[in-house]
Amino acid sequence: MSGVFITFEGPEGSGKTTQIPLLADFLRSRGHEVLTTREPGGTPIGDQIRAILSDLGNTAMHPRAEILLFLASRAQLVEQVIRPHLAGGGVVLCDRYADSTLAYQGYGHGVDLGVLQNLLLFATGGVFPHLTFLLDLDVEAGLKRRAQGGDWNRLDAYALEFHRRVRRGYHQLAKKEPERWVVIDASQPPERVQAAIRQSLAERLPFLTGG
Ligand code: TYD
Repeated sequence: MSGVFITFEGPEGSGKTTQIPLLADFLRSRGHEVLTTREPGGTPIGDQIRAILSDLGNTAMHPRAEILLFLASRAQLVEQVIRPHLAGGGVVLCDRYADSTLAYQGYGHGVDLGVLQNLLLFATGGVFPHLTFLLDLDVEAGLKRRAQGGDWNRLDAYALEFHRRVRRGYHQLAKKEPERWVVIDASQPPERVQAAIRQSLAERLPFLTGG
């Protein structure tokens, strides 16, 4: 596979959806074929799965069912979108990926991390990111931004303590693989966040930014 796969992770309201298109435009201006996508979703089948996951009425959803739905959406996205674009030498920017499962289902809900790693290998067919940006933000600040945006869903409604475990989980994951992760302070104004992302990209993958 000759392309570059970059993922964005972080808590609710950390600004991933603002930052990804800005970075995509920048990389296109440098001559790259850039594809942006998101999880859960990113394909017609994935979007249907996303609707089930987000539905506030689905309070009975068992954690194992939830995991398998996330993974089903991901398997479809990998084969239909991510793998072909990488094979063509393009850049893929993805809003959430396998690390969300480790952070939310693993650290957040306490599902065994080893089990999840095996499931992730199966679901992704071994396609993992070259670089991952963690847009790190205080949990209360993120949830407040999210609620103000009026975009509240079933998954945001988990307890505050859950979201704190998720954030700590992200920090653990970043610590375990520092060569893959870049932690960005997402409490900064959006233009500063974007500048920090581009700066890190120039350091980690200089051939992408042309510098
Ligand atoms: P979304 O509306 O995309 O939120 P955000 O803008 O924060 O990405 O909802 C995705 C939610 O799903 C979010 O709460 C994180 C959660 N999630 C998991 O729990 N596990 C996963 O594997 C993925 C991809 C997402």
